[in-house]
Amino acid sequence: MKELLIVYHTQSGSSQRLAEAAYAGAVAEKEIKVRLLRAMEAGSSDLQACDGVLFVTPENFGYLSGGMKDFFDRTYYPCDPGSLARPYMLIVSCGNDGSGAVRQLERIVKGYPLKAVAEPLIVRGEPQGEDLESAGELGLSFAAGLGMGIF
Ligand SMILES: Cc1cc2nc3c(=O)[nH]c(=O)nc-3n(C[C@H](O)[C@H](O)[C@H](O)COP(=O)(O)O)c2cc1C
Repeated sequence: MKELLIVYHTQSGSSQRLAEAAYAGAVAEKEIKVRLLRAMEAGSSDLQACDGVLFVTPENFGYLSGGMKDFFDRTYYPCDPGSLARPYMLIVSCGNDGSGAVRQLERIVKGYPLKAVAEPLIVRGEPQGEDLESAGELGLSFAAGLGMGIF
């Protein structure tokens, strides 16, 4: 069975709510195993075991959050840089921007190399109902795409 990994970092809960919404959407696809892990609890073996990965992170100080950056710092060498080709999607939770976190993550994942299979979803401010719905749709589309072998 193919596996979708959802890795998130959160400080005040918004990214967690978005990650949980994405998880709820993804598990509707019954043919796919979906795992939801905090970035600090996830490691290179989780990344190597999955068939696709969805990152959910806040933007802090114009950058990727430290918790998500730490995940990449810890997994890069153990993942044998250059050989881990996986599709990925990204959700950024932010106050009013989000572009710095997107830019930094896109740069980092080139080294694995992970391949974007959707535009990043940027949620500004407290996630509202429609944002959680969008996160759910993203999770479902990722799981469905993996199931159909599109990615
Ligand atoms: C230390 C810190 C730095 C932040 N820097 C930015 C920023 O540069 N740009 C932005 O749009 N929002 C910024 N924010 C707002 C957070 O990205 C936003 O509140 C986000 O939803 C927090 O996600 P979380 O609840 O998952 O921790 C910052 C928040 C904190 C605590």
